[in-house]
Amino acid sequence: MSLANQVRDQFFSEFGDDPAFIVRAPGRVNLIGEHTDYNDGFVFPLAIDRATFIALRPRADKCVSAISLDIDDRRHFALDALQPPTEPEWIDYLAGVAWSLLERGYALRGWEGVLSGDVPIGAGLSSSAALELAAARAFHAVSSFEWDAPAMALACQRAENEWLGVNCGIMDQMISAAGVQDRALLIDCRSLEIASAPLPPGAAVVILDTNTRRGLVDSAYNERRAQCEAAARHFGVAALRDVDLAAFERRADELDPLARRRARHVITENERTLQAREAMNAGDAAALGQLMIESHISLRDDFEVSSPALDAIVDCANADDACYGARMTGAGFGGCAIALVAADGASSFVERVTACYVAATGNQPALTITRASAGAGTVFP
Ligand code: GLA
Repeated sequence: MSLANQVRDQFFSEFGDDPAFIVRAPGRVNLIGEHTDYNDGFVFPLAIDRATFIALRPRADKCVSAISLDIDDRRHFALDALQPPTEPEWIDYLAGVAWSLLERGYALRGWEGVLSGDVPIGAGLSSSAALELAAARAFHAVSSFEWDAPAMALACQRAENEWLGVNCGIMDQMISAAGVQDRALLIDCRSLEIASAPLPPGAAVVILDTNTRRGLVDSAYNERRAQCEAAARHFGVAALRDVDLAAFERRADELDPLARRRARHVITENERTLQAREAMNAGDAAALGQLMIESHISLRDDFEVSSPALDAIVDCANADDACYGARMTGAGFGGCAIALVAADGASSFVERVTACYVAATGNQPALTITRASAGAGTVFP
């Protein structure tokens, strides 16, 4: 049964009636442009066909009451008595989005509903952004404000930064809010301008989940951010986005070796991401794949956010004849990689890379062929 039907059925058994709305918000993978968003740079993600669904109806009071089918838990909060969490739980994502929307002056109604999602948690596929945007879409459904994707993404990012205490950039919320079916989105993380492009004809995207989950990602992520900000200060610019490769090379010697590697990753990754747009517009899967291969090497050696498991699965993928290019995706240190492969060879690619990774690591990965889906929306009525 589809997740939309599951939340609808559970809503009926809980509330004795059909829901007034079913909303959905997807997770994401990033084709290229990693650790560039908080440097005001470019990213190229696509929304995936895994998502969080909420079946809901409005309430007359200022209360939000939600049941998570995945966690088997029922929680509620009052919109006029929001308390920041000390140890965030799933309900705090909903409360954080409410807080952020209220802070921005949106008038919100309460609602009650049932939610469930199939974006794996902690895999680097943005289950948090999916939950946040689904919550924003639920508030949108019952309140009368306009849905503006960048504004909603910014509000959800603020919830994540200030309510949940995670210092993420804008990529995950933007793509969950604004994704387009069958297209990847080139997002300028400074202006939030978006250009969409289809995947090259005959190419498919495979998610390669190493099934490794790493702790301490937050502290390593914050450390990378601080290193990038320090490098930008050294160049006298607002963000590394403002340094091009030629300017970087002229002054690279002034940076200590670590800062030089971190900055080099961000600056070259921005260039690769813009080149990826050319490759996609030209329908050139081989060129796009090559940029992905270079992106992984840069993330592994210069930015140092890969892991042995990610390197192993990327090596297995890149050695396969059906593969144009593979790289880690998301923050790194574990979780998922993605591969651009020939669509007609995708199923056998999945089998071969699974076997290769098991032989290399002794662990079982989870490989799935995905497709670009639409961003957050109301799926019923
Ligand atoms: C995480 C963050 C994003 C982005 C990526 C790395 O997914 O949430 O904002 O920084 O890492 O590209």
